[in-house]
Amino acid sequence: MGFPLDHATPTAWVSLVEREPERLLEDHAHCELKAASSAHALIAKNPEHSELVQDLADIAIEELEHFKVVVSELEARGGRLGEQTENRYAASLHRRSAESRQSLVLDRLVIAHLIEARSLERFHLLAEHSTDSRLRELFAELLPSEAAHQGFYAKAARSLFGREQAEARIAHLRRVEGEVISTLPFSYTVHSGMVGAPSLSPAER
Ligand SMILES: [Fe+2]
Ligand SMILES: [Fe+2]
Repeated sequence: MGFPLDHATPTAWVSLVEREPERLLEDHAHCELKAASSAHALIAKNPEHSELVQDLADIAIEELEHFKVVVSELEARGGRLGEQTENRYAASLHRRSAESRQSLVLDRLVIAHLIEARSLERFHLLAEHSTDSRLRELFAELLPSEAAHQGFYAKAARSLFGREQAEARIAHLRRVEGEVISTLPFSYTVHSGMVGAPSLSPAER
């Protein structure tokens, strides 16, 4: 399956996170919470767009439902949700986008689209390659709605800012996303980087 991203994650990431799935689940639970917060923030910035507000409210509810499911799985494995820490990947995307920003709302929509796309790519890897059947099922279950969110944010950017401006910003921030992911360490988090990652096999390219 193709993703609108510049760098593919090697399947070795699945073997890495499987060593300590509780760390992945805790990180991922916080990602779901942050996804709900980012939908709230977009509602607060766009109260005049009633259709968008309704759709974003639906996304925020869905992300909180995902949060509950992921926390349940974490606790079923004996893990506990700790305090939220900074997501270096998302923070870098926001910081880097500010260097050439024309619209904060457009950038928030495009960054949400890219974060959903990267999450989706990793969920696919887990759903297809994990040797842990509960992880496979959990991430396969989350896939359809994250795929819908990814498409929704790109569509919302086009409808609010016009196709030309939105596509130009998506193309620019997609390159930025590729640079950011290439400079973060390869680790158990959903948005970990590629530094130290084993090379992709020809089949993964
Ligand atoms: Fe989610
Ligand atoms: Fe999502």
